[in-house]
Amino acid sequence: MIKQAIIPLAGLGTRLLPLTSVFPKELLPINGKPGIEYILDECIHAGIKEIIFIISKKKEMIRDYFYNDHFYKKIIKKKKDPRILKEYRKILKYKKMIKFVYQNKPLGTGDAVLKTKKYIRNKFFLMLLPDDLIMKNNCSKSMISVHKQYKSCVMASMNVKKKTVSRWGIYKLDRKLDNKNYLIKDVIEKPSIKEAPSNQAVIGRYILPKKIFSELLKQKPGKGGEIHITDAIQKLIYNEDKFIAHNFTGKYLDCGSMQGYINSTLEISKL
Ligand code: UTP
Repeated sequence: MIKQAIIPLAGLGTRLLPLTSVFPKELLPINGKPGIEYILDECIHAGIKEIIFIISKKKEMIRDYFYNDHFYKKIIKKKKDPRILKEYRKILKYKKMIKFVYQNKPLGTGDAVLKTKKYIRNKFFLMLLPDDLIMKNNCSKSMISVHKQYKSCVMASMNVKKKTVSRWGIYKLDRKLDNKNYLIKDVIEKPSIKEAPSNQAVIGRYILPKKIFSELLKQKPGKGGEIHITDAIQKLIYNEDKFIAHNFTGKYLDCGSMQGYINSTLEISKL
């Protein structure tokens, strides 16, 4: 059973400067709602019961956002506004589910994941990268079904343009399991066009095994001097762990780049 999710939020968000110079990108509004709430709703509807946020001291504002219920209480006493009451209840619901851990130096996604080591209880957990929104279909829920069916790790996958492969983790695929799922032979972090084994990219949804922590403990920094989660996954695949690439249905929105962020509001408002 997958009941825990982790969300790395300790990155610097440099691609969204100046919006992120004092404000965490995950709280930026997307069609009138902080981006992170789309991710939380996806988790809740996928049956997740506990969510671990990896933040940094610089991003304490994220914690404050979920711990500001006393402010709502005061307002509700004065103003009987049903919309604010609804928002208050939603914040309380989120607050109950979220735990915070800290990664004060952004050494990479793998290092961020490692900070959750002592909190993960079951054999598998879900990880979501909050820059990647997937609308119209709950990708996490579909991936949990795939995990149950094939008893394996699962990662979201999408076709990208060949000339953009160096921005992504790229899969080398093995055999097709069914219409939407492929066994993974290899995964390479940000390959050059020449190195890229395909144009199937890793999108920010992962069902990972608890044993990835022992791999991360051994890991040396990779591309760009960062500890990448993709490199630890590659090691597990080489050690014969079964990983599936799940071609999700739903609309993908990249909210981590300026153009993508601007576009996401326009796209969501059309849904
Ligand atoms: P990215 O590298 O794509 O985003 O990390 P970033 O670092 O936040 O932003 P840019 O590239 O400077 O614009 C993917 C996810 O992993 C988290 C980020 O917060 C983001 O959600 N992350 C990244 C960490 O939590 N810790 C890290 O050391 C690096």
